[in-house]
Amino acid sequence: MPKLNENYLNLVPSYLFADIRHRVDDFCAREPEKAKRLIRLGIGDVTLPIPEIVINGLHAGVDAMSRPETFRGYGPEQGYPETRKAIADYYARNGVDIDPDTIFLSDGAKCDTGNITDIFGNGNVILCPDPVYPVYVDTNIMCGRKVIYMDGTAENGFLPMPDPNVHADLIYICSPNNPTGACYNREQLKVWVDYAIANEAVILFDSAYEAFISEPELPRSIFEIEGAKKCAIEFCSLSKTAGFTGTRCAYAVVPKELVFTASNGTEMSLHAMWTRRQSTKFNGASYIVQKGAEVVFSEEGMAACQENLNYYKRNAKVIADTMKDLSIRFYGGINSPYIWFECPKGMESWEFFDYMLNEIQVVGTPGTGFGRNGKYFFRLTSFGNYEKTLEAMERFRTMLK
Ligand code: MLT
Repeated sequence: MPKLNENYLNLVPSYLFADIRHRVDDFCAREPEKAKRLIRLGIGDVTLPIPEIVINGLHAGVDAMSRPETFRGYGPEQGYPETRKAIADYYARNGVDIDPDTIFLSDGAKCDTGNITDIFGNGNVILCPDPVYPVYVDTNIMCGRKVIYMDGTAENGFLPMPDPNVHADLIYICSPNNPTGACYNREQLKVWVDYAIANEAVILFDSAYEAFISEPELPRSIFEIEGAKKCAIEFCSLSKTAGFTGTRCAYAVVPKELVFTASNGTEMSLHAMWTRRQSTKFNGASYIVQKGAEVVFSEEGMAACQENLNYYKRNAKVIADTMKDLSIRFYGGINSPYIWFECPKGMESWEFFDYMLNEIQVVGTPGTGFGRNGKYFFRLTSFGNYEKTLEAMERFRTMLK
């Protein structure tokens, strides 16, 4: 009999969004009439098609595969140079200097933030916010690691800051945040960078929602902060920016400055380790997808993607305005596609999930799924259809009258 990875015994039985899907499926089987009215504002999955200019890039990739002179087989594990250059140019337009050689293309930021655990050892103090995107925690539990939490609460605007008396080796930060929609400003991120350097820690910075930032003074990348290349890895995704949740493409930036000393005194570079890890376990994002990604990061491509993001931002405003009108305390919705609000009537979040499903057939995400500080909070996404979002909010108002 094989010995199993018994760390899995320490996980909650199912992944949050799988759990929600099962509950909604059960409801639909039980209430087929009500199910016809269902509006899904739960998982943050995009609904608009990919902009035409990006589709043309994908088509160019497909066409290249059809001709002997342009056909591609295995590509460079780190990604094609032209795609990495397009990403570096995108950073440069935002005033950030990134060496294309530090960019690693992949098929998702979820995979990258999970896989990065491979290059760190056991015994690290791993610091996560609570509420938190469950992937950071679950992937550490899967390899038997212990996570400590920093509380995100209404009092700190769901933007926890480091406690100088607590040491950490690895720090997960997601800004703009999933699930709360809160976004760190430059001064706050500088405090995190200084803390990481003082602790010889590494920040694992998830910027998957950077393209939603509307307030220009807010940082879109940890590398906008002085010193960050000495202490941070950044993960970003095309899922939400370019509507690639089904197409799959993301990237990580692993600076070459990240060099630490192993227990035997050897200097180890995280860039070299990630290269080794990826070239062993991954064959790279597909050429076709990378041709699309290259267009996403061009000025024209990004402008087209922003049109879709503006559509979602209009939805976010509809949801946020509803919360304001009903005097419900909420966060996010301005620099983020998520609106995080306090459950009305003092309900707990799963109770409110069931209540909404039964009363108005709107699906959201219960805050408890993101940690104990989410117990009385709830998340709605702005990734739905505009008319359906309006309808959902009309029903929401009626429900709470
Ligand atoms: C979410 O709804 O939190 C996200 O869509 C999940 C993800 O990006 O994996």
